[in-house]
Order: sequence, then structure tokens, then C-alpha cells
Amino acid sequence: MAGYNAREVRRCYDLSADEYAKHFLNELDGKPYDRSVIERFSQMVPSRGLVYDFGCGCGHTTNFLAGFGRQTVIGLDFSEKSIELARRLFPKNQFDVDDMLSSHMEPGSAEGIIAFYAIVHFCYREVEKTLGEWFRLLKPGGYCLFSFHVGRGTLSVDNFLDIEGACATWRFLNTDRVLGHAESTGFLPYEVVERYPYADAEHPSKRAYVILQKPT
Ligand SMILES: C[S@@+](CC[C@H](N)C(=O)[O-])C[C@H]1O[C@@H](n2cnc3c(N)ncnc32)[C@H](O)[C@@H]1O
Repeated sequence: MAGYNAREVRRCYDLSADEYAKHFLNELDGKPYDRSVIERFSQMVPSRGLVYDFGCGCGHTTNFLAGFGRQTVIGLDFSEKSIELARRLFPKNQFDVDDMLSSHMEPGSAEGIIAFYAIVHFCYREVEKTLGEWFRLLKPGGYCLFSFHVGRGTLSVDNFLDIEGACATWRFLNTDRVLGHAESTGFLPYEVVERYPYADAEHPSKRAYVILQKPT
């Protein structure tokens, strides 16, 4: 089976950036668990601490987190079109182009990292690499919160959101295996929740929300 295809994924989100925002900009309104875990996370991170939102897409999670007025939040994504759109939609927030597999952000610069459904195209090799990047970017005691689709196998989509040429493969991940990589990276598991999808609002897959801490 082919591995993670960064070029294909970037092109998929570049092509579908506007349509993605039409579908998902207000999705948190219908996701009470996601809202509550982001709010709780924002309370765990020191009020002036820098937080990165990796794979931020159109920036709605970045803006939601910033709305608690507690952190400096920077939304990061490797899709330039998504970042251009996020800047237009949320001009008060900061957004930059960055690849979470080899980030340009300063080591030890962040008190927190969130990444909502950002690792959904990764194989375990990229999951492991990304966890290593997050560990490098976080200050000791910092937290990361990320989510993904739970399961096995893949789902390849040819015309994502009916956009011609927008192709990508989504990968379902095993929570214990992801946690194994997190622990071998050096993270301490803080909270792990698997939830069922919200009927009619989400793809019918189980989801995991993981909070890890870098030891002090
Ligand atoms: C399923 S979308 C999730 C977007 C947003 N976080 C949300 O919850 O709607 C996955 C996002 O991850 C980004 N992405 C995928 N691989 C990436 C990488 N290596 N570095 C940075 N962003 C990446 C994509 O461009 C896309 O915006």
C-alpha cells in the first residue's frame, strides 16, 4: 500500500480550501465534545503561552481557541491556499505556512500544540515523526492535544468535496499504537478519549482525542 503522499495531500487542500471552509467553518457549533476539550486545554496552558494549531486548514479551531483570550495562537498548515483563506477569514489571528513533519518554529517555543484531524493522512511513520517534532517544539511541561479517526485501513477519495483533481487518502489509526509512539518519544499520556461520531454531522468513524504532556 502506498505511503503518505505529501504532494497529493497539499494539492488536495489547496484545491478544496474554499469548499472546505464552506463545509467546516462552523462545524464546532455541532460538536460539543470538541468545544469542551479545546476549552479545557486552553485552561491547562499558561495564559500567555504560545500555542500552535497544526494542520489548521481554514483556521476555525485556531480562532475558537484564541476566543478564550488566554493564549497567543498561531495557525499553521502546509497548504498555502488554506493559510491565505484563514488569514482572510480571521484577520485578527496569526497564520503561517509550515510543515508539521519538519517545522520551522523554534525548539522549545510552545506551551501548547493542538492538531485537529491534522494527522488523518499519515502512516505510523509520519505520526512518530510528527510527535518528535511536537516534543521538540514544546517547552518542558507543555501539552499537545490532537484528534484522529480510529480504526484500520484507508479511504481514498478522488474528488474531495466534489472538486475535480482533489485526491487524498485518509488513514484510520489504532489509539494504543499512537500512544506507544507517544510514550517512546518521551511524552506522558494525560488524557485519551474515544468517542462515537455525531450522527448525520460526521463521517461514521470512531474518533480519538489525545492529550499528552512533555515531562517537566
Ligand atoms: C482534515 S484537515 C483538518 C483541518 C482542520 N484542523 C479541521 O479540524 O478542520 C487536515 C489538514 O492538515 C493539513 N496537513 C496535512 N499534512 C500536513 C503537513 N505535513 N504539515 C502541515 N499541514 C498538513 C492539510 O493541509 C489540512 O488542512
